[in-house]
Amino acid sequence: MTVPFYRPRRLRDNPLLRDAIAETEVRAEHLMLPVFVADVAKDHEVQSMPGVMQRSVPSLVNEVEALVALGVRSYILFGVPGHKDAKATSAYDHEGVVPRAIRAIRERVGPKAFIATDVCLCSYTDHGHCGVIKGERVLNDPSLELLAKMALTHAQAGADMIAPSDMMDGRVRRIREVLDDHDLTHVPIMSYAVKYASALYGPFRHAADSAPKFGDRRGYQMDFRNRTDALREALLDAEEGADVLMVKPGLAYLDILSDLRANTELPLAAYQVSGEYAMIRYAALAGAIDEARVTRETWIAMRRAGANFILTYHADMAARQKWLD
Ligand code: PBG
Ligand code: ZN
Repeated sequence: MTVPFYRPRRLRDNPLLRDAIAETEVRAEHLMLPVFVADVAKDHEVQSMPGVMQRSVPSLVNEVEALVALGVRSYILFGVPGHKDAKATSAYDHEGVVPRAIRAIRERVGPKAFIATDVCLCSYTDHGHCGVIKGERVLNDPSLELLAKMALTHAQAGADMIAPSDMMDGRVRRIREVLDDHDLTHVPIMSYAVKYASALYGPFRHAADSAPKFGDRRGYQMDFRNRTDALREALLDAEEGADVLMVKPGLAYLDILSDLRANTELPLAAYQVSGEYAMIRYAALAGAIDEARVTRETWIAMRRAGANFILTYHADMAARQKWLD
């Protein structure tokens, strides 16, 4: 009988040795929690996202204060305004829900929370598209001016990072110009550089009340059948001045993340989106999988593929239930 000469199992025998040679880890500082702040008096749970809330400003401030104490350091804010119109005026209102939330969080926890803001018009327009429209067309260049105004409003309220998710061409450059013109040269831009038109955003549309009233987003978000597009989009955003590049969704797009890791030196973020959260959460609630272990495994996979940090709706649960070291 021939026996193996080299035995890979030898390196897996002892847990101390396994830990010594492990290549990838996820720590609390690698997670960013998306939060929804609404012009409402009372919080409510988001449909299809058990455990995720749409919160009033005071409730969000309390939640952030509690989570900061548990080690959740960074947040991305999504605004759900009370008023929507064709020009998304609430998006660049200094008294809008996001600027108020930024100021209130800052007052309570100071610099202990890193606050990024999502910049996009879809929650603020009455038609639900990510830019301004003419007939049924989403116009690119006129949208840039509104997005830049929105980014400026957030940065002036004290946002630590601006994250445009609209997928209009040229928005990173325009936002960078406007921030720089207003002495906000220190505020980084995290571009949703590679954002596919994905059915996995389904539950988010309840969370942000941002479903388009007609058509879909395939005229501006990327076609998930394509891989080469991703590199072009990412390198373009890097040239326009993006400081961090994001890939979205996460788990089904690890090939893209890995391509980007090999082709840019910029930090990369992966967004584990609402549908990914729902898939894990409902499977866990049904008793089919171990929520902590499955979620951590997906985070490790994204980090292994090249993500520096991960946007995930599970960050608060991970902190409360002490999933990480
Ligand atoms: C807004 C935006 C969306 C998400 C982040 N920013 C929705 C969309 O583009 O339709 C998706 C996040 C998620 O599904 O968790 N443009
Ligand atoms: Zn949008």
